Amino acid sequence: MPVVSKNDDDIERVILSEEQLAKRVTELAEEISRDYAGKDLVLIGILKGCVVFLSDLIRKIDVPLSFDFVAVSSYGADTKSSGVVRILKDLDESVESKHVLVVEDIVDTGLTLRLSYLLENLRSRRAASVKVCTLLDKPSRRRVDVPVDYRGFTVEDQFVVGYGLDYQGKYRGLPYIGLLKPEIYGGG
Ligand code: IMP
Ligand code: MG
Repeated sequence: MPVVSKNDDDIERVILSEEQLAKRVTELAEEISRDYAGKDLVLIGILKGCVVFLSDLIRKIDVPLSFDFVAVSSYGADTKSSGVVRILKDLDESVESKHVLVVEDIVDTGLTLRLSYLLENLRSRRAASVKVCTLLDKPSRRRVDVPVDYRGFTVEDQFVVGYGLDYQGKYRGLPYIGLLKPEIYGGG
């Protein structure tokens, strides 16, 4: 059945299909299930980009788990100089003595994770362990070092949308990951 979505008209090219995403999410879930067998696992998604990936992942992970969300402010010109990304929505539950896996849609510059001090913050709340799982990794754009423990795909230095990732709040619901047509950015 063809995907019917008016968003599709804005897509130049699909770079990761629905099938490729499903296969890789299953593989990641298998790896996570092995690594966290017998451990108290909590997934912490960073809103909003994580939601599609997280919801697919939790249905494939084969060990008991809970999940929670945080929201952080994005870094603008002023936050870059102040070096702070504020936590806008904190966790609902304690992570004390739990094994925490932070779930991201994409690690790009690394500034969100680094400037929010999220990993340090979780450790200071006495999590048993803190690791990072990202669907996409764009290492060519990295400005600060971020430990990535589970990685779905490495992508080129291109702006991608779909499967949770947005451009100006749109395209998160596309079932694949694609590149926008240049005219959508006001380019081309
Ligand atoms: P970082 O702080 O630069 O690592 O970027 C993290 C956030 O920037 C991600 O969680 C996304 O919300 C956003 N982002 C970075 N690259 C892309 C992209 O190619 N498409 C959509 N969002 C992106
Ligand atoms: Mg975003």
